[in-house]
Amino acid sequence: MADIAIERVEALKTGDLHDLCDAADDAIKAGGGFGWVEPPPRDVMERYWKGVLVVPERILFVARLDGVIAGSAQLVKPPRNNEAQGHAASLTTAFVAPWARGHGLARRLTQAVEAEAVACGFRALNLDVRETQEAAIALYETLGFKRWGTHPFYALVKGVRTAGYFYSKDLDQATPQDETPR
Ligand SMILES: CC(C)(COP(=O)(O)OP(=O)(O)OC[C@H]1O[C@@H](n2cnc3c(N)ncnc32)[C@H](O)[C@@H]1OP(=O)(O)O)[C@@H](O)C(=O)NCCC(=O)NCCS
Repeated sequence: MADIAIERVEALKTGDLHDLCDAADDAIKAGGGFGWVEPPPRDVMERYWKGVLVVPERILFVARLDGVIAGSAQLVKPPRNNEAQGHAASLTTAFVAPWARGHGLARRLTQAVEAEAVACGFRALNLDVRETQEAAIALYETLGFKRWGTHPFYALVKGVRTAGYFYSKDLDQATPQDETPR
């Protein structure tokens, strides 16, 4: 059976940074959902992850399959000046490398982000996704995220206008069952 681990990351060793960059590159090439449409040069990708680690509002999680970082997701806290929306955090930048899919890594990553949001006292968790990301849509819906809107021109991917869906989970209503890792 595959060995799966989910970790909250505060520093990245060189080998882990390379694995994270490789996983992101592979996910982007496979059609991503990770913002980039084409993988950026390696130095840009490395600077991106190093940047994430120093932004106080971002909490980085990685998923390992048999010890190798194969996926990631982030919890993004709202800006401190936004009192009215201070109850809501966002889940962003979620992906699993194609070679590691189907082992439950994304489910466990999403549950880890949600558990951290609850631990931080947030009462809603928001996310958005391209309409073409069918696996992600199925994942989030089975984890209790409710679709509340569609943006018809959410993304422009290789010249193609792509709609996107907006989801939210009311953490006040979340049942313990939703948090149980499978
Ligand atoms: C979406 C993604 C993260 C899923 O990663 P994964 O580790 O393979 O997912 P899991 O193994 O944890 O699967 C969890 C659930 O996701 C859904 N799912 C996963 N792969 C699926 C597929 N190919 N088709 C339909 N649903 C799928 C299922 O509901 C699955 O639950 P089940 O195993 O009980 O059926 C991965 O496919 C990916 O990186 N896609 C591209 C990037 C992306 O869409 N990111 C999200 C943007 S917000």
